[in-house]
Amino acid sequence: MDRGKWQSDFDNDIYENITCTEEPTKTALKMRKIQQEPKEENLSPKFLKTSEMLETQRRLLMVLGTLLVLVFTFLIVLTCLMFIYYSMVNSQLKQQDEEKANLLTQITTINQIIVEQKANLLTQITSTKQTLDNQKTQITAMQQTLDSRISESMRSTKQDILQTIQNEKTKCDSGWKAFDGSCYFIDTTERNQDDAQATCKSMNSDLVIINSDREKNFIESITDSSSFWIGLKRDKNNKKEWRWVDGTYYYPSQRFWMNGEPNNESEECVHTSKEKKWNDIFCTYKYKAICEKK
Ligand code: BGC
Ligand code: CA
Repeated sequence: MDRGKWQSDFDNDIYENITCTEEPTKTALKMRKIQQEPKEENLSPKFLKTSEMLETQRRLLMVLGTLLVLVFTFLIVLTCLMFIYYSMVNSQLKQQDEEKANLLTQITTINQIIVEQKANLLTQITSTKQTLDNQKTQITAMQQTLDSRISESMRSTKQDILQTIQNEKTKCDSGWKAFDGSCYFIDTTERNQDDAQATCKSMNSDLVIINSDREKNFIESITDSSSFWIGLKRDKNNKKEWRWVDGTYYYPSQRFWMNGEPNNESEECVHTSKEKKWNDIFCTYKYKAICEKK
């Protein structure tokens, strides 16, 4: 140390009355330094105030540091908890998704089964309905057939009864058949129409005059497939018109012609054919005859 320096140190008040003659020792300097350190009671108020502020700031910093550590720890704990919670929720959501998928699969399966069963039921219903409709149609047809048979049977029975009553009432000569109040005779000798009518006349009758379906049916029942003269002829004045031999009006509803007949105005007389229907024919032809006595 230079002499100027420590000389200045000795310029202090402490040493103001000490006469410095030689260079101080190291120990003496150390001692002097210790003595130089300020004692609190000797420090200035400004210095004290600054010191207190520094102390306060140091404490605040410590508190802030502690708080930061606590907040950091809290954030770490919170993050861990959040992660655990997220994992749990995620696992639950996955489980729920799986359950949802299972439920959806079950619903789809059930839906398919329902659709199939519905289709099967519809097919069965349609088939059953079809069967029922067919049966209904068959029953209706059977009922109609039955009704028609019953009514035909009743009509036939009624006709038979009426016929029997009529026959009982109508007294016909031997060889003559009774129907609806008339007597009928089959002349089995073949003659032309004029001779046939003459033969009937000789027995107080005329060639048959057919006035109804019933009578036509009766005639059919007493004749075979031979040809027989009946009492129908063309009008002498109008060859397109027809007259019964007794002059009875020839009703349009009582025409039992074969298909395509009458077909020839030169054929002026009528006979029953094999089919028991009528044909115009030449009057000179020779056939058996049916006589009717009213
Ligand atoms: C015709 C009749 C006709 C008859 C005369 C038949 O072949 O079909 O219309 O009266 O011949 O023989
Ligand atoms: Ca003819």
